[in-house]
Amino acid sequence: MREIQAAQPPHLPAFFQPLYLDSVTSTNDEMKQRARAGAAEGSLIVAREQRAGRGRGGRQWTSKPGNLYMSLLLRPPGSVGAVAQISFLAAVALAEALLEVAPDLSPRLKWPNDVLIDGAKISGILLESSARSGGGVDWLVLGMGVNVAHHPEDAGQAATSLQAQGADNCTAFSLLATLAPALLRWLDIWRGAGFAPLRQAWLERAAGLGGPLRVRLPNEEFSGIFRDLDGDGNLRVEMPDGAMRSITAGEIFLP
Ligand code: BTN
Repeated sequence: MREIQAAQPPHLPAFFQPLYLDSVTSTNDEMKQRARAGAAEGSLIVAREQRAGRGRGGRQWTSKPGNLYMSLLLRPPGSVGAVAQISFLAAVALAEALLEVAPDLSPRLKWPNDVLIDGAKISGILLESSARSGGGVDWLVLGMGVNVAHHPEDAGQAATSLQAQGADNCTAFSLLATLAPALLRWLDIWRGAGFAPLRQAWLERAAGLGGPLRVRLPNEEFSGIFRDLDGDGNLRVEMPDGAMRSITAGEIFLP
């Protein structure tokens, strides 16, 4: 594993302790090892490429050089359920960072944590955590991949990148320079005020709110209307018979 010497890494707020690597299997795997060995909150791994980048649901995350691949170590207070709210935090922070580097874009957020541009996925967020035996979370790794220079053509869903959207001058490092402060800003808000402001910010950019959607759970699939996000981050879906249903985990499809 080689540390990157080439392009200038950005200046980041003091909270972050970055390590820039050339080629790793997965930044999440690297960070999990360090988390188990006692690394401090704020440790950040950024890699030029991943040889075995991972997505949600065991999917592969194509990770050639040019895009942003990063994992941030957090040691947040709260239960495993509560800290799952950090995936909304990451999506909101990323939407703000994208708007800063490319003000013409209109990022929308797809539950639980995808960021879409014109309906196409531009990023992926993968949270992995370890629970403490007495309750709470020992560590949480926030993995983020953002398509800056390229995007997969065969991901099974529409994908895009910043460069495909016309943001030609943006690089993984320049995006990181705006994303890191946005993450820190929202971490401070979340720690101070809880989920409510984050929920509000997420809903303001939610894709498909008030419209039809299809929900896929491990053992069933159904259609409904996307009505709300509740105070825990669950999706509130109105069923065809008018009943409301809360979805904690699953996949949704928007028309
Ligand atoms: C998704 O399926 O949408 C989540 C993709 C998460 C990809 C990022 S890239 C950096 C970090 N390392 C990984 O192996 N995965 C995450």
